Amino acid sequence: MSENTETNRSHWNEAASTYNTKFSKTIQQIIDEIQVRKDWIGVDWVEDTSEDEDESIPPEKTVKLLDYACGTGLVSRALAPYVTQCIGIDLSEGMVNEYNASVQNQGIPASEMHAVLGNLLDASDPNPAALSGAEFHDFDIAVVGLGFHHFDDPALAAKRLAERLKKGGVLMIVDFMPHGHFHGHDAHGHDHPAKKTVTHLGFSKEEVKKAFEGAGAGGDFAFEVLGKGVVFEDKEKEVKLERSVFMARGTKV
Ligand SMILES: C[S@@+](CC[C@H](N)C(=O)[O-])C[C@H]1O[C@@H](n2cnc3c(N)ncnc32)[C@H](O)[C@@H]1O
Repeated sequence: MSENTETNRSHWNEAASTYNTKFSKTIQQIIDEIQVRKDWIGVDWVEDTSEDEDESIPPEKTVKLLDYACGTGLVSRALAPYVTQCIGIDLSEGMVNEYNASVQNQGIPASEMHAVLGNLLDASDPNPAALSGAEFHDFDIAVVGLGFHHFDDPALAAKRLAERLKKGGVLMIVDFMPHGHFHGHDAHGHDHPAKKTVTHLGFSKEEVKKAFEGAGAGGDFAFEVLGKGVVFEDKEKEVKLERSVFMARGTKV
Protein backbone atom coordinates (compact mmCIF):
# COMPACT_ATOMS: atom_id res chain seq x y z
CA MET A 1 0.00 0.00 0.00
CA SER A 2 1.47 3.40 -0.94
CA GLU A 3 1.93 6.01 1.75
CA ASN A 4 -0.84 8.12 0.24
CA THR A 5 -3.18 5.11 0.20
CA GLU A 6 -2.53 4.46 3.88
CA THR A 7 -3.03 8.17 4.68
CA ASN A 8 -6.37 8.11 2.84
CA ARG A 9 -7.48 4.92 4.57
CA SER A 10 -6.85 6.23 8.06
CA HIS A 11 -8.25 9.71 7.37
CA TRP A 12 -11.49 8.41 5.83
CA ASN A 13 -11.92 5.83 8.57
CA GLU A 14 -11.94 8.69 11.02
CA ALA A 15 -14.17 10.92 8.88
CA ALA A 16 -16.70 8.21 7.95
CA SER A 17 -19.21 8.45 10.79
CA THR A 18 -19.72 12.23 10.50
CA TYR A 19 -19.39 12.67 6.69
CA ASN A 20 -23.15 12.51 5.95
CA THR A 21 -24.22 14.88 8.69
CA LYS A 22 -21.40 17.42 8.20
CA PHE A 23 -21.86 17.68 4.45
CA SER A 24 -25.54 16.81 4.03
CA LYS A 25 -26.44 19.93 2.00
CA THR A 26 -23.50 19.59 -0.38
CA ILE A 27 -24.13 15.87 -0.80
CA GLN A 28 -27.77 16.54 -1.72
CA GLN A 29 -26.71 19.30 -4.13
CA ILE A 30 -24.40 16.91 -5.99
CA ILE A 31 -27.03 14.13 -6.00
CA ASP A 32 -29.47 16.59 -7.62
CA GLU A 33 -26.88 17.66 -10.21
CA ILE A 34 -26.22 14.01 -11.14
CA GLN A 35 -29.93 13.23 -11.42
CA VAL A 36 -30.73 16.17 -13.71
CA ARG A 37 -28.00 14.85 -16.04
CA LYS A 38 -29.47 11.36 -16.22
CA ASP A 39 -29.93 11.57 -20.01
CA TRP A 40 -26.62 13.34 -20.56
CA ILE A 41 -24.84 10.44 -18.78
CA GLY A 42 -26.18 8.28 -21.58
CA VAL A 43 -26.81 4.88 -20.02
CA ASP A 44 -29.81 2.82 -21.10
CA TRP A 45 -31.33 3.07 -17.64
CA VAL A 46 -34.22 1.10 -16.21
CA GLU A 47 -37.37 3.07 -15.48
CA ASP A 48 -37.63 4.52 -12.00
CA THR A 49 -39.81 1.91 -10.25
CA SER A 50 -39.55 3.38 -6.75
CA GLU A 51 -43.12 4.76 -6.92
CA ASP A 52 -44.67 1.59 -8.35
CA GLU A 53 -47.17 -0.12 -6.15
CA ASP A 54 -46.27 -3.63 -7.24
CA GLU A 55 -42.54 -3.92 -6.75
CA SER A 56 -42.66 -7.69 -7.11
CA ILE A 57 -42.45 -7.41 -10.90
CA PRO A 58 -38.80 -7.97 -11.75
CA PRO A 59 -37.31 -5.51 -14.24
CA GLU A 60 -36.62 -7.23 -17.57
CA LYS A 61 -33.08 -5.97 -17.87
CA THR A 62 -30.17 -5.34 -15.55
CA VAL A 63 -28.17 -2.13 -15.22
CA LYS A 64 -25.16 -2.47 -12.94
CA LEU A 65 -23.38 0.49 -11.30
CA LEU A 66 -19.85 0.45 -9.89
CA ASP A 67 -19.53 3.26 -7.33
CA TYR A 68 -15.74 3.37 -6.88
CA ALA A 69 -14.33 5.18 -3.82
CA CYS A 70 -17.98 5.10 -2.79
CA GLY A 71 -17.61 6.61 0.66
CA THR A 72 -21.01 6.68 2.31
CA GLY A 73 -22.72 6.17 -1.08
CA LEU A 74 -23.46 9.56 -2.66
CA VAL A 75 -23.29 8.29 -6.25
CA SER A 76 -25.23 5.10 -5.47
CA ARG A 77 -28.02 7.13 -3.89
CA ALA A 78 -28.15 9.42 -6.94
CA LEU A 79 -28.35 6.62 -9.51
CA ALA A 80 -30.11 3.83 -7.58
CA PRO A 81 -33.55 4.73 -9.04
CA TYR A 82 -32.30 4.03 -12.57
CA VAL A 83 -30.19 0.87 -12.08
CA THR A 84 -30.87 -2.65 -10.86
CA GLN A 85 -27.70 -3.07 -8.79
CA CYS A 86 -25.20 -0.74 -7.08
CA ILE A 87 -21.83 -2.08 -5.95
CA GLY A 88 -19.60 0.21 -3.92
CA ILE A 89 -15.87 -0.29 -3.42
CA ASP A 90 -13.82 1.76 -0.98
CA LEU A 91 -10.43 1.64 0.67
CA SER A 92 -11.80 2.60 4.07
CA GLU A 93 -13.63 0.02 6.17
CA GLY A 94 -15.32 2.89 8.07
CA MET A 95 -16.84 4.14 4.81
CA VAL A 96 -17.86 0.64 3.70
CA ASN A 97 -19.61 0.14 7.04
CA GLU A 98 -21.43 3.49 6.75
CA TYR A 99 -22.54 2.65 3.19
CA ASN A 100 -23.88 -0.77 4.21
CA ALA A 101 -25.53 0.52 7.39
CA SER A 102 -27.47 3.12 5.41
CA VAL A 103 -28.55 0.46 2.87
CA GLN A 104 -29.81 -1.68 5.72
CA ASN A 105 -31.57 1.24 7.43
CA GLN A 106 -33.47 1.97 4.23
CA GLY A 107 -34.56 -1.67 3.98
CA ILE A 108 -32.80 -2.13 0.64
CA PRO A 109 -31.67 -5.75 0.09
CA ALA A 110 -27.88 -6.18 -0.03
CA SER A 111 -28.30 -7.97 -3.36
CA GLU A 112 -29.41 -4.60 -4.81
CA MET A 113 -26.90 -2.37 -3.08
CA HIS A 114 -23.79 -3.15 -1.06
CA ALA A 115 -20.22 -2.04 -0.63
CA VAL A 116 -17.01 -4.01 -0.18
CA LEU A 117 -13.56 -3.12 0.99
CA GLY A 118 -11.04 -2.94 -1.84
CA ASN A 119 -8.47 -1.07 -3.86
CA LEU A 120 -8.17 -1.44 -7.63
CA LEU A 121 -5.31 1.06 -7.78
CA ASP A 122 -2.52 -0.75 -5.96
CA ALA A 123 0.37 -0.92 -8.45
CA SER A 124 1.69 -4.09 -6.81
CA ASP A 125 -1.68 -5.90 -6.99
CA PRO A 126 -3.49 -4.95 -10.21
CA ASN A 127 -6.04 -7.76 -9.89
CA PRO A 128 -6.99 -8.17 -6.25
CA ALA A 129 -8.41 -11.64 -5.59
CA ALA A 130 -11.28 -10.26 -3.51
CA LEU A 131 -12.49 -8.23 -6.53
CA SER A 132 -12.05 -10.94 -9.17
CA GLY A 133 -15.58 -12.43 -9.06
CA ALA A 134 -18.16 -11.97 -11.81
CA GLU A 135 -20.12 -9.44 -9.71
CA PHE A 136 -17.16 -7.04 -10.01
CA HIS A 137 -17.09 -7.11 -13.83
CA ASP A 138 -19.26 -6.09 -16.78
CA PHE A 139 -20.64 -2.89 -15.31
CA ASP A 140 -22.92 -0.66 -17.38
CA ILE A 141 -21.50 2.38 -15.60
CA ALA A 142 -18.54 3.04 -13.31
CA VAL A 143 -18.43 6.33 -11.41
CA VAL A 144 -15.95 7.97 -9.08
CA GLY A 145 -17.50 10.77 -7.02
CA LEU A 146 -14.96 13.19 -5.54
CA GLY A 147 -12.30 10.48 -5.38
CA PHE A 148 -9.98 11.23 -8.30
CA HIS A 149 -8.13 14.01 -6.48
CA HIS A 150 -7.15 11.50 -3.77
CA PHE A 151 -5.59 8.91 -6.10
CA ASP A 152 -1.86 8.43 -6.74
CA ASP A 153 -2.42 7.98 -10.47
CA PRO A 154 -5.82 9.10 -11.81
CA ALA A 155 -5.02 7.98 -15.38
CA LEU A 156 -4.34 4.46 -14.08
CA ALA A 157 -7.59 4.65 -12.13
CA ALA A 158 -9.49 5.44 -15.35
CA LYS A 159 -7.89 2.34 -16.98
CA ARG A 160 -8.65 0.00 -14.10
CA LEU A 161 -12.27 1.18 -14.01
CA ALA A 162 -12.73 0.97 -17.78
CA GLU A 163 -11.51 -2.65 -17.62
CA ARG A 164 -14.48 -3.37 -15.36
CA LEU A 165 -17.02 -1.98 -17.86
CA LYS A 166 -18.98 -3.78 -20.54
CA LYS A 167 -18.22 -2.63 -24.07
CA GLY A 168 -20.45 0.42 -24.54
CA GLY A 169 -20.45 1.03 -20.79
CA VAL A 170 -19.96 4.51 -19.38
CA LEU A 171 -17.11 5.85 -17.25
CA MET A 172 -18.05 8.94 -15.25
CA ILE A 173 -16.05 11.19 -12.95
CA VAL A 174 -17.32 13.91 -10.65
CA ASP A 175 -14.48 16.02 -9.30
CA PHE A 176 -13.04 19.48 -8.83
CA MET A 177 -11.85 21.96 -11.44
CA PRO A 178 -8.23 23.12 -10.99
CA HIS A 179 -8.03 25.21 -7.84
CA GLY A 180 -4.41 26.24 -7.56
CA HIS A 181 -3.88 25.57 -3.91
CA PHE A 182 -5.64 23.93 -1.03
CA HIS A 183 -7.54 26.71 0.79
CA GLY A 184 -8.05 24.49 3.77
CA HIS A 185 -7.05 26.25 6.96
CA ASP A 186 -9.01 26.46 10.14
CA ALA A 187 -9.50 29.66 12.13
CA HIS A 188 -6.18 29.04 13.88
CA GLY A 189 -4.22 28.62 10.68
CA HIS A 190 -3.89 24.85 11.00
CA ASP A 191 -4.13 22.70 7.89
CA HIS A 192 -7.41 20.96 7.27
CA PRO A 193 -7.04 17.24 8.13
CA ALA A 194 -8.11 16.20 4.61
CA LYS A 195 -5.26 18.20 3.03
CA LYS A 196 -2.77 15.37 3.40
CA THR A 197 -5.08 13.01 1.49
CA VAL A 198 -5.18 15.22 -1.61
CA THR A 199 -2.80 14.33 -4.46
CA HIS A 200 -4.23 16.58 -7.20
CA LEU A 201 -5.52 20.16 -7.02
CA GLY A 202 -8.35 19.54 -9.45
CA PHE A 203 -8.34 18.58 -13.12
CA SER A 204 -8.69 20.39 -16.43
CA LYS A 205 -11.00 19.16 -19.16
CA GLU A 206 -7.95 18.27 -21.30
CA GLU A 207 -6.42 16.13 -18.55
CA VAL A 208 -9.64 14.26 -17.96
CA LYS A 209 -10.21 13.71 -21.67
CA LYS A 210 -6.69 12.33 -22.05
CA ALA A 211 -7.22 9.95 -19.11
CA PHE A 212 -10.53 8.71 -20.57
CA GLU A 213 -8.99 8.19 -24.03
CA GLY A 214 -5.98 6.43 -22.53
CA ALA A 215 -8.37 4.11 -20.72
CA GLY A 216 -10.28 3.27 -23.91
CA ALA A 217 -13.35 5.08 -22.60
CA GLY A 218 -13.20 8.31 -24.59
CA GLY A 219 -16.23 7.62 -26.82
CA ASP A 220 -18.64 10.59 -27.00
CA PHE A 221 -16.58 12.32 -24.32
CA ALA A 222 -18.50 15.11 -22.60
CA PHE A 223 -17.51 17.46 -19.80
CA GLU A 224 -19.70 19.88 -17.89
CA VAL A 225 -18.89 22.34 -15.17
CA LEU A 226 -21.76 22.63 -12.71
CA GLY A 227 -23.29 26.09 -12.78
CA LYS A 228 -23.03 26.53 -9.05
CA GLY A 229 -19.94 25.63 -7.04
CA VAL A 230 -20.05 23.55 -3.88
CA VAL A 231 -18.95 24.35 -0.37
CA PHE A 232 -17.62 21.85 2.14
CA GLU A 233 -18.02 23.53 5.45
CA ASP A 234 -16.85 21.87 8.63
CA LYS A 235 -18.37 24.08 11.33
CA GLU A 236 -16.63 22.23 14.14
CA LYS A 237 -13.19 22.72 12.61
CA GLU A 238 -14.12 26.18 11.31
CA VAL A 239 -13.02 25.46 7.76
CA LYS A 240 -14.78 26.15 4.52
CA LEU A 241 -13.67 24.75 1.14
CA GLU A 242 -15.22 26.27 -1.97
CA ARG A 243 -14.91 24.28 -5.16
CA SER A 244 -16.07 24.34 -8.73
CA VAL A 245 -17.21 20.85 -9.73
CA PHE A 246 -17.21 19.09 -13.12
CA MET A 247 -18.86 15.95 -14.41
CA ALA A 248 -17.21 13.99 -17.23
CA ARG A 249 -18.51 10.96 -19.12
CA GLY A 250 -17.10 8.72 -21.83
CA THR A 251 -18.15 5.46 -23.46
CA LYS A 252 -15.95 2.37 -23.54
CA VAL A 253 -15.14 1.78 -27.18
C1 LIG B 1 -14.18 12.64 -0.55
S1 LIG B 1 -14.57 10.95 -0.26
C2 LIG B 1 -15.85 10.76 -1.49
C3 LIG B 1 -16.83 9.68 -1.15
C4 LIG B 1 -18.06 9.57 -2.07
N1 LIG B 1 -17.73 9.06 -3.37
C5 LIG B 1 -18.75 10.91 -2.19
O1 LIG B 1 -18.83 11.43 -3.32
O2 LIG B 1 -19.25 11.42 -1.17
C6 LIG B 1 -13.20 10.08 -0.99
C7 LIG B 1 -13.27 8.56 -0.83
O3 LIG B 1 -12.25 7.95 -1.63
C8 LIG B 1 -11.80 6.78 -0.98
N2 LIG B 1 -10.51 6.38 -1.57
C9 LIG B 1 -9.35 7.08 -1.60
N3 LIG B 1 -8.41 6.40 -2.27
C10 LIG B 1 -8.99 5.23 -2.70
C11 LIG B 1 -8.54 4.10 -3.46
N4 LIG B 1 -7.30 4.00 -3.92
N5 LIG B 1 -9.43 3.11 -3.70
C12 LIG B 1 -10.70 3.15 -3.23
N6 LIG B 1 -11.17 4.19 -2.51
C13 LIG B 1 -10.34 5.22 -2.25
C14 LIG B 1 -11.75 7.24 0.48
O4 LIG B 1 -11.69 6.16 1.39
C15 LIG B 1 -13.03 8.07 0.60
O5 LIG B 1 -14.12 7.28 1.00
